[in-house]
Amino acid sequence: MARAELNAAKAAKKDEFYTQFVDIEKEMNAYLEYDENVFRDKTILLPCDDPEWSNFTKYFAQNFERLGLKKLISTSYAPDARLINKQPTLFETTNPNFDEVKSSSQGRIFSLTRDVNNDNRLDVNDLEWSYLEGDGDFRSEEVCELRDEADIIVTNPPFSLFREFISWIYSAEKTFVVIGNLNAITYKEVFPRVQANKLWLGATNFNTGMYFRVPDDFVYAPTYKFEREINGVSVNRVPSVCWFTNIDHGRRHQPLSLMTVADNKKFSKHKEICGIGYRNYDNYEAIEVPYTDAIPSDYPGVMGVPITFLDKYSPEQFEILGATQRGCHDEVPDTKKYDDYWEVRPDGSKTGSSGGKTNENANLEGNDGKKNYFINGEGHIIQSAYQRIFIRHRMVQA
Ligand SMILES: C[S@@+](CC[C@H](N)C(=O)[O-])C[C@H]1O[C@@H](n2cnc3c(N)ncnc32)[C@H](O)[C@@H]1O
Repeated sequence: MARAELNAAKAAKKDEFYTQFVDIEKEMNAYLEYDENVFRDKTILLPCDDPEWSNFTKYFAQNFERLGLKKLISTSYAPDARLINKQPTLFETTNPNFDEVKSSSQGRIFSLTRDVNNDNRLDVNDLEWSYLEGDGDFRSEEVCELRDEADIIVTNPPFSLFREFISWIYSAEKTFVVIGNLNAITYKEVFPRVQANKLWLGATNFNTGMYFRVPDDFVYAPTYKFEREINGVSVNRVPSVCWFTNIDHGRRHQPLSLMTVADNKKFSKHKEICGIGYRNYDNYEAIEVPYTDAIPSDYPGVMGVPITFLDKYSPEQFEILGATQRGCHDEVPDTKKYDDYWEVRPDGSKTGSSGGKTNENANLEGNDGKKNYFINGEGHIIQSAYQRIFIRHRMVQA
């Protein structure tokens, strides 16, 4: 199989990873703790969710009354449009609405608004369903209309379409809670909104990665060394996955407890800081802070921090000024270009690339011997730090 096909197949498999009930419950509880009426009288749309597999549908249907929902809508993608899980479910084939022709090519819409079975409660057994006109693509006109009708959009969307999915939500300016990869923070569709405090990370700490339910015939990567089964279902761990939202929660208002510059220099557990202090970038007026717990409490200037900082970001404590991503650092402009440098491998051989490659990355003087570095005619060596976000304390004066 060609590499492009392999990558497409890999992405398609991840598009069929299902979120565990416990992860959804934990995250929604954080919003409810902060505001118990957050979902009250709201119409919730779950636009990538077949109740057969989706715990989002199960969670909101099961908690419909407790949350005080007005309406729950869950739409699913047609089996023909998916690369796997193509069989119609037992739920569908045994239902009077079942239509063999529509079943493979059309999506479904499930809604919950009333006590259909007259058992005096609204729950998953009161979901009503029919086929959509099209395949249920979230970008289709009919699903866009449902988005416009909804107050809040919640889901784990197809990983391969995350960018489009976020733009789709924002084009209707909706409230949302969605799962995505942490790297999406630096997307141009995401970062400016993070900076403007219109989008932030959810409450669940993502350090341990997240386990998703996978089809039973899922083939694990040869290097996979994590749990394969939780509560009797096959799972796969995905690292660096987090929740993105614009619903407030308590964790983002808890300030980080930090040490001063002087104490970090004396006591930091990080060898890059202990006994050394903080280094200035070669091309930004900012200091390099390689770990979130090493952010000094009393530094008044600009600091470059890893993107994982956002998991601990409190907007009352810090201001986000930009990121190393191209087009994201107007407020912290780079002060140098490296077009007359060339790239060198750790063994000293030239890669053939110009130093222009590292323009706008946050660069440090020197070479750690582990990664490629850049050098100019005068023997000046620099190496790029990883992706960085530029921040400043709100309460520390120069
Ligand atoms: C990562 S899975 C998550 C499913 C479910 N939301 C959950 O968390 O358990 C993404 C789902 O989106 C569906 N999907 C893929 N492309 C889609 C599209 N363009 N429009 C709507 N759904 C899509 C896939 O079939 C898959 O079921």
